[in-house]
Amino acid sequence: MSPLLSVENLRIAFPSRQGPVEVVRGVSFSLGRERLGIVGESGSGKSQTGRAILGLTPVSGTATADRLEFDGVDLRNASTRQWRKLRGARMSMVMQDPKFSLNPVMTIGRQLMEAVKLHGGKSEAHDKSIAMLEAVQIRDPERVMAAYPHELSGGMGQRAMIAMMLVTEPDLLIADEPTSALDVTVQIEVLRILDRLVTERGMGLIFISHDLRLVSTFCDRVLVMYAGRVVEELDARRMNEATHPYTRGLLNCLPTITGDSRPLPVLARDDAWLE
Ligand SMILES: Nc1ncnc2c1ncn2[C@@H]1O[C@H](COP(=O)(O)OP(=O)(O)O)[C@@H](O)[C@H]1O
Ligand SMILES: [Mg+2]
Repeated sequence: MSPLLSVENLRIAFPSRQGPVEVVRGVSFSLGRERLGIVGESGSGKSQTGRAILGLTPVSGTATADRLEFDGVDLRNASTRQWRKLRGARMSMVMQDPKFSLNPVMTIGRQLMEAVKLHGGKSEAHDKSIAMLEAVQIRDPERVMAAYPHELSGGMGQRAMIAMMLVTEPDLLIADEPTSALDVTVQIEVLRILDRLVTERGMGLIFISHDLRLVSTFCDRVLVMYAGRVVEELDARRMNEATHPYTRGLLNCLPTITGDSRPLPVLARDDAWLE
């Protein structure tokens, strides 16, 4: 069976005064109906990788790939019409900050229902929206439906946004640091929701984070990115077998549960990793 998503030799460049700078430099991976984590420090190219899959590379940038295929569709030359059928319907992305993804002048309910209607299903729009809000553990969905984004707390807004991205029942969800703005208990709850959707609906999930510990507990497989490249791919249960010095460095930076108070090691960097 062919995978849900295939990415081969993805490269993304932005212009600079010194000429084009490649920020993603030959990333390849494939994804089935599973949880794939992408970790790496800030600036390593995680978000741009996710955005390129959805055709959302900023206009100043250039994305190329030898292969970029979603469920048999070649995304590299997908038409506007094909994108309209895919984006927000079969593939969605949860961004870090709900403020940028929710429309501030429309109630949550109206936004949810529009999303359902846009992709078929007019009659069930209301019921589906309520059910999705319940699925993300919002206890008073009717009240939230009537609210505007600014009337919700951060955690509630984040859940409303996740409901928004999931209400069309996508086959692929890219969650870009979806929980970093939330406190720990809400984080765990959101992860549990995503987890259930992968198990129950057979969704494929790309979970982007800088937190190696979180990613390795939550995902099946982990790609470690450094300076625009995948330097290591690991089975999440076998993190301790990581061999790349950058991954080892990330692992050594994790605070231990024994409350060991050694100073955190400084992450080593080496130009040789760029080869
Ligand atoms: N619109 C843009 N124009 C120029 N450079 C950008 C733009 N967006 C991102 N970059 C650069 O691309 C690199 C990778 O960014 P990003 O994928 O957002 O990293 P991450 O998500 O891993 O923190 C960074 O060095 C960033 O400065
Ligand atoms: Mg990012």
